[in-house]
Amino acid sequence: MSSQPTNRVFSGVQPSGQLHLGNYLGAIRNWVALQDGYECIYCLVDMHAITVWQEPAALKKATFEGAAALIAAGIDPETSILFNQSQVAAHAELAWIFSCVARIGWMDRMTQFKDKAGKNKQRASVGLYTYPALMAADILAYKATHVPVGEDQKQHLELTRDIAEKFNHDYDADIFPITEPLIQEEGARIMSLRDGTAKMSKSDPSDLSRINLTDDADTIARKIRKARTDAEDLPSEPAGLEGRAEARNLVDIMAALNGTSQEVVLRDFGGKGFADFKQSLSDVAVAKLSPITEKMAALAEDETYLQTVLDNGAERAAAIAAPVIAEVKALTGFVTPG
Ligand code: TYM
Repeated sequence: MSSQPTNRVFSGVQPSGQLHLGNYLGAIRNWVALQDGYECIYCLVDMHAITVWQEPAALKKATFEGAAALIAAGIDPETSILFNQSQVAAHAELAWIFSCVARIGWMDRMTQFKDKAGKNKQRASVGLYTYPALMAADILAYKATHVPVGEDQKQHLELTRDIAEKFNHDYDADIFPITEPLIQEEGARIMSLRDGTAKMSKSDPSDLSRINLTDDADTIARKIRKARTDAEDLPSEPAGLEGRAEARNLVDIMAALNGTSQEVVLRDFGGKGFADFKQSLSDVAVAKLSPITEKMAALAEDETYLQTVLDNGAERAAAIAAPVIAEVKALTGFVTPG
């Protein structure tokens, strides 16, 4: 039997556009912190990305840029494993088996599919629908015990737990762990700068809605200055943010960037207007993000280095997944090499 790790982290990000502040505050900064104390596996999920159309050259570029962004943000590719999903066949193999374990009713409940497919569900790819089975395979191919994500992935992780439980039950084996999501309080759900009710996202047509990790200091400052707010001053306590989605979002961003809480931010800024607050927020955002942006730009120039990192990561990832896949195939009743 392959070993049962107790502190293995897996997480992924789609190389389907530029990484933004939501990805950073909701997930990546936690990925960096978890490198102390966990065995970490981080993946650019290019197979998830193609569930909606990706221009091949753009996908490749975004994969290299994503790797550069993660290293620039503090992922150490020597201690952690950093790779792109399609280089490790275990993901696709296990995803097929899991799509035979998961039930159609489970997939039908996934809100992300409903959001992404929109009104014209008949024209969405089959891959977009079965996406959560691939996500479960990503995690369980490594028997990962902890998965750091933003709030929007919570439902997918519940499905991963259901798949693990059903597989263990159906095949009477204690092979898969019941994975724990790691969702931080501040930053778990960063909203669009233009609409406090919509998630900050790579696919929003308005570039003003998000801060990209490639934005320079002037662009960050301009986007924060133009961020939507309301006419009131900031409240002194979190309860005063009720019904003020845009204000809450900016306070959350400040709290997450500083590693504090809404309470602490409002203790400093309660009673002040947005002009002052936005100026301070933009200073903090630039101070935190500029070093990442600069390092990322330098790394992105060196495709040879990034290729080596991804190849090396894929090799190490495949070595961990191989015994798990062999065990799964044996349990399933497939004839395996004799
Ligand atoms: P993706 O590429 O949409 O986002 C990557 C990570 O960033 C988080 N995130 C946010 N957090 C806070 N506020 C936001 N506005 C925001 N937008 C994105 C996401 O929650 C995520 O943690 N399905 C996943 C990728 C994936 C994966 C996995 C994750 C594939 N396999 C296995 C964990 C484990 C996705 O599309 O993330």
